Amino acid sequence: MESLRNLVHQLAEEGTLISATLSQRRKAGDAGYTKVVIKPVELKKSLHYQLAYHYANKVKHENVAASLLEEKMMKLFEDTFRQGLFCTVQADYQVLISKKYKVSILKKSPSKKPGPLTHNRQKRYILEEGTPVPFLVELGIMNPDGKVFAKKYDKFRQINRFLEMVEDVIPHLPEDRPLTIVDFGCGKSYLTFALYHYLSVQQHRELNIVGLDLKADVIEHCGTLARNLRYDQLRFLVGDIADYDELSQVDMVVTLHACDTATDAALEKAVRWGASVILSVPCCQHELFNQVHSPVLEPLLSHGILKERFSALATDALRAKLLDLLGYKTQLLEFIDMEHTPKNILIRAVKSSAADKDRLWQEYAAFRDFLHADPYLERACRDLLPSS
Ligand SMILES: C[S@@+](CC[C@H](N)C(=O)[O-])C[C@H]1O[C@@H](n2cnc3c(N)ncnc32)[C@H](O)[C@@H]1O
Repeated sequence: MESLRNLVHQLAEEGTLISATLSQRRKAGDAGYTKVVIKPVELKKSLHYQLAYHYANKVKHENVAASLLEEKMMKLFEDTFRQGLFCTVQADYQVLISKKYKVSILKKSPSKKPGPLTHNRQKRYILEEGTPVPFLVELGIMNPDGKVFAKKYDKFRQINRFLEMVEDVIPHLPEDRPLTIVDFGCGKSYLTFALYHYLSVQQHRELNIVGLDLKADVIEHCGTLARNLRYDQLRFLVGDIADYDELSQVDMVVTLHACDTATDAALEKAVRWGASVILSVPCCQHELFNQVHSPVLEPLLSHGILKERFSALATDALRAKLLDLLGYKTQLLEFIDMEHTPKNILIRAVKSSAADKDRLWQEYAAFRDFLHADPYLERACRDLLPSS
């Protein structure tokens, strides 16, 4: 079912789904709905999906946030349906699932035109080229007429991709008060400025954003830029993530490409604040490289390049499981195409209550022990985790 999950995940992520029809019940003759038709709808100004459950004599509707579509659809396939037809902007996909859950997916030319709620990724960016955006002009990404400089196009795409990720988590953020956001290891702060512009100027949210970094000169420059742009609720501070203790409540923590365990220090802060949303792109993961060993994995670990990549992936797998254990629903997503940077995994965690902690802990501990790993995040959050 992995290939199906990947496809559903991609459609949900990209927002390119025009309609989906799930049919052919696993057990024919069961009482209940015979098919479910899914289409995008707008609710509270954000993308949701409406699921229409077709019974013999009635149709029942359910609306779900875009971020929940993947789980909903996979559950329907796992429990009930053996067939699916997904109509998307780029293609139609015919899905067939055997009795033994073997999946075949047939891709065909698109048969439907996108409606107003379906994203067309080829055309749609949150920040459009041709419309001058002051912070992009100040940062030298576009000229005052809104033309993106050729050399800065990758950065422009990365900023837009990041904002799409932010757009997706808006339903998980509190609506009734100004948002407090911290960007740990903000560096030159392209994405911090983007965040401010998107939430304040485009979404009209009251904000308090802090960018923190070790580098005093970079922070001074960012502060000047924020003042020039009149981004009054954006502050830049010099400091180490692990020592930052200025705020008592934070709604969202962002940490993009903070080096090695600086990411874990940021995740720990986020967890202790009970932040509703965490967006993190890890980078330079050295910790596990120096810890991991396993005779079974010798063919892999004996090659430096494979060991390095494996250690980085294992680090993120452990982080994701720990975040689940610490009260989050965690997904690992592709941040930007591999061709632009190998540092392309984004950890997206949203606060969530339901979790089978015993099972999660067993899964986590088994993997950690197999690798002989001793991750920073576990040590830092020891008091919040089950005992070993
Ligand atoms: C690769 S840059 C990323 C900048 C920015 N977040 C981005 O994605 O464009 C990493 C930044 O993290 C900062 N950093 C690393 N460790 C840190 C720590 N412990 N506390 C604060 N900042 C840190 C570095 O100074 C650097 O500016």
